[in-house]
Amino acid sequence: MELDKMDENDWKYHGEGNKSLVVSHVQHSRVLRLLKYPAEDSENAPQTPDQAFRHIQNIVDFSSSVMRPLLGEKFIHSGEVVRLPLEFVRQLSIKVQHQRPAWRCNKVMDIYSGCALCLPNLTLPSLHQSTHTPTLCIEIKPKCGFLPSSKHVSKEIKTKVCRFCMHQHYKVASGKWKRSSLYCPLDLFSGNRQRMHSAIKHLIEEPQNNFKIFKGGQCIYGDSDELLDLSSLLQHLRPYFLFGNNRFNSHMTNKAVLNNFIQVSSLNVLLSGGRGDGGGKGRSFCEASLLSRDRSRHGSQALPSDSVLSRILQTQMLDNLDIEGLYPLYRRVEQHLQDFPKERGRLQVDGPYGEAFLQKLQKCPGEDDGSVEFAVAKVHQYRVAMTAKDCSIMVTLVPSSEEEEDDEGLPGFSSSVSILDLDPKPFDSVPRQLRLDQKIVSYFLRTAAALPKGSVPRRGIYPAVEREDCTLLFHPV
Ligand SMILES: Nc1ncnc2c1ncn2[C@@H]1O[C@H](COP(=O)(O)OP(=O)(O)O)[C@@H](O)[C@H]1O
Ligand SMILES: [Mg+2]
Ligand SMILES: [Zn+2]
Repeated sequence: MELDKMDENDWKYHGEGNKSLVVSHVQHSRVLRLLKYPAEDSENAPQTPDQAFRHIQNIVDFSSSVMRPLLGEKFIHSGEVVRLPLEFVRQLSIKVQHQRPAWRCNKVMDIYSGCALCLPNLTLPSLHQSTHTPTLCIEIKPKCGFLPSSKHVSKEIKTKVCRFCMHQHYKVASGKWKRSSLYCPLDLFSGNRQRMHSAIKHLIEEPQNNFKIFKGGQCIYGDSDELLDLSSLLQHLRPYFLFGNNRFNSHMTNKAVLNNFIQVSSLNVLLSGGRGDGGGKGRSFCEASLLSRDRSRHGSQALPSDSVLSRILQTQMLDNLDIEGLYPLYRRVEQHLQDFPKERGRLQVDGPYGEAFLQKLQKCPGEDDGSVEFAVAKVHQYRVAMTAKDCSIMVTLVPSSEEEEDDEGLPGFSSSVSILDLDPKPFDSVPRQLRLDQKIVSYFLRTAAALPKGSVPRRGIYPAVEREDCTLLFHPV
């Protein structure tokens, strides 16, 4: 990529999250991730170019020096900061504007700093493949996969219903989503095939911002209302599964196509990575999950110890005090910084995110000795866990030649897994997290109390047609 010869016509809109907008190169397997900021501030640059450069460099350092050792080298591509011509960035922002989902347009793309993060395009294979069939890729934002067991948790419900399921309830009530999702992260992280299958199935039914499918690098499902048509998804997927034993079986049911898809794209990949117990305490049940009624059938498998899910779960579990136990420690640090502002640097409150930062959080003593060092190490751990609760997993599938099949007669794919969106969460996000936690839990308790005993409030009602559609497609496995 020659940075002085950038042409907006070589790039197209790829996707966005809450903090950044991503464009992909039309030929090379590259993306640019540009910062976003609130539209109200669009007249003024929120950061100078040097500050923006520093900000993105911090993201790269955090990803490569802190998250990468924790999550596993092979999963992480940290990318590099680039400086782009301002004219290119302005033309690009005009070009992509009309493709952005309306609900994301409360923020605008940064057109002032000229800085961006350049990364490999993880929806495409890194090496050129001889096959002509486009690559498939799924993106899962798994969210938090365990129930807190900290003694600081003040509301018992938090040890029974997981954060995602409680939050769902709040998000639907507050109008953020029209329908609620039946996905429960504890099922995905369970290591139990049936529970994981059910989790992926629910993500497909109601992806919200937790699930996307790409074909040939292009998003074909999830992300926006236009891309939520199950029957067109099936049209895309069907050809991939008409090989092997099914070669002559053009009557393959929709249900079978989706089941096969879930198996090769998710289960086979997410359950690879050695044997042994990588499950931690994540094997517990969330009472809001539909499968929790049938616990005995979904017994005790565990995640393979070196699997991507296990690595993410272990990192999430660095939050072992829960926000309620962490907050007093945050206050201790804050108080200390008020008295000694110059300590901010030594304590690495805003980085730098290098080896020393990682060591601080890894060498944190088990018991509180009352020191500010202990408190800061716990806050660092909590922030790292927050990043792991907010990351995405990309699974890329390249179809192998038609002749190959796996043991179960499914078509062969070679797969690769990456983890993305590993930005550091700011130090001062802790008080906000406490307020959000209180809001979600108290709303859930208030509305749950109105329902008959033993029935956890669950989800909006699917429109009848869709319900039927789902029952047709997905039978219990
Ligand atoms: N390296 C990449 N390759 C392919 N797609 C990417 C890459 N990075 C991000 N994306 C896409 O862009 C979306 C937004 O990027 P993300 O890093 O999650 O930003 P945010 O921090 O705003 O959530 C992702 O959900 C994903 O679909
Ligand atoms: Mg994201
Ligand atoms: Zn749950």
